[in-house]
Amino acid sequence: MTLDAVWNAVANVESSIANGPIVPDVTPLEIRRHLASRYDFTMPLALDDVCADVEQMLRTWQVQVTHPRYFGLFNPSVVRPSVVADLLSAMYNPQLASWRTSPAANEIERHTLAWLIGKFGLPAAAIGTFTTGGAEANLSAVIVALTRAFPEYGDRGLRHLGTWPTIYLSAEAHHSFNKIAHMTGLGRRALRTVATDRYLKLDVEDLARQVADDRRRGFAPFMVVGTAGTTSAGAIDPLPDLARFCRAEELWFHVDAAWGGAAILSPRLKGHLAGIDAADSITCDAHKWFSVPMGAGMFLCRHPNAVVEAFRAETSYMPDSAAGPVLDPYRSSVQWSRRFIGLKLFLALAQQGESGYIEMIEHQARMGDALREALVRAGWRIVNSTPLPLVCFSRDGLINADFLAALYQRQIAWMSEVRLGDNAPVLRACITSFRTTESDIECVVREMSALTAGGV
Ligand SMILES: Cc1ncc(COP(=O)(O)O)c(C=O)c1O
Repeated sequence: MTLDAVWNAVANVESSIANGPIVPDVTPLEIRRHLASRYDFTMPLALDDVCADVEQMLRTWQVQVTHPRYFGLFNPSVVRPSVVADLLSAMYNPQLASWRTSPAANEIERHTLAWLIGKFGLPAAAIGTFTTGGAEANLSAVIVALTRAFPEYGDRGLRHLGTWPTIYLSAEAHHSFNKIAHMTGLGRRALRTVATDRYLKLDVEDLARQVADDRRRGFAPFMVVGTAGTTSAGAIDPLPDLARFCRAEELWFHVDAAWGGAAILSPRLKGHLAGIDAADSITCDAHKWFSVPMGAGMFLCRHPNAVVEAFRAETSYMPDSAAGPVLDPYRSSVQWSRRFIGLKLFLALAQQGESGYIEMIEHQARMGDALREALVRAGWRIVNSTPLPLVCFSRDGLINADFLAALYQRQIAWMSEVRLGDNAPVLRACITSFRTTESDIECVVREMSALTAGGV
């Protein structure tokens, strides 16, 4: 297949987005009227026309997360090879459930995950799977940890345990764990909220206190979640201390590095993830800081046998397992039928190399520093502390809702509001695009100052 046409099409979209609006102004009714007026599906339509219409809708009716001035919720600009990967994967439609059906695709994924397993310092025997995203990876971690700690959980369920398993995490951990506690039958109250310090990092002394209290009261602590790059503020929990504590207390140590995990590639940043090599399992999303399209998460685990036990499946209708050192993904992960998620990361890595990734990641970290410095110069107060490119900030008298509405209406940038701890909500800006430049940042901060000077 010649790539020129795809490459040029992607380049055109990138430049049209970069030069266009960031935030849409549309009502649900407007979109529904448009769809109802054109698509009753009674007659076939010319694909060219439909595609042109869909592209027009996508250009005008969505927040452009790949815009260089989208400072948002970890949704990245996407590297071109990863777009090609999605096309290839749709064209060939490999079914990755069993190794025998898709040997090439399965081995490409295994090879890519083995590379990342090495980067995180997990043993070579560790196992990895691509997931739809971080939430599925976190779900996988809880299921595997539960199965390992309570072998009867798989066959007889939680109610036969005769105790109440509990998970420890800070209020800054991702909310997917609330849903996971619900879905696994643990119940949302099985989550113990551990205090944080003034930098929003999990407080290990409070963790130790809560684990000891729970043990005394007949609960069964089994898992601790440390976050490496919290969603709200980019805080990194004290991973080495958590690792030591979990080892001493025989607790499963999961690190949710959905966004921050990519920092492991950067010589400048990876020291901040020290201790992650001691994790029992890790969540890391390719569709965040690895800059590939959604959905591409990864679940990595030090204990392959525990994973195989947690997701075991026997059927006569699936192809027989292949001989040799291979695992069928349907027997070692949450999903059954599965698309070729890993190709996005494989193609991007192969095309730009690890060095290309380091450059991208460090560029974004530098842009985060530039944003922080420009905001301070312009009189804003920075309220979070992280080496990662995520800045939370405020200024006296600011009404966030009015300020953000004006920012969106003038198409200056997209950023959001967040509440850190019990404090009043502040603004949150994350550098999610490798195309954000210093001049984007200067322009945004200048325009923001003009807005506040104008009384917004
Ligand atoms: C720290 C963290 N963990 C997990 C998730 C969930 O990831 P996903 O949205 O890919 O399911 C997110 C999403 O932003 C996150 O920030």
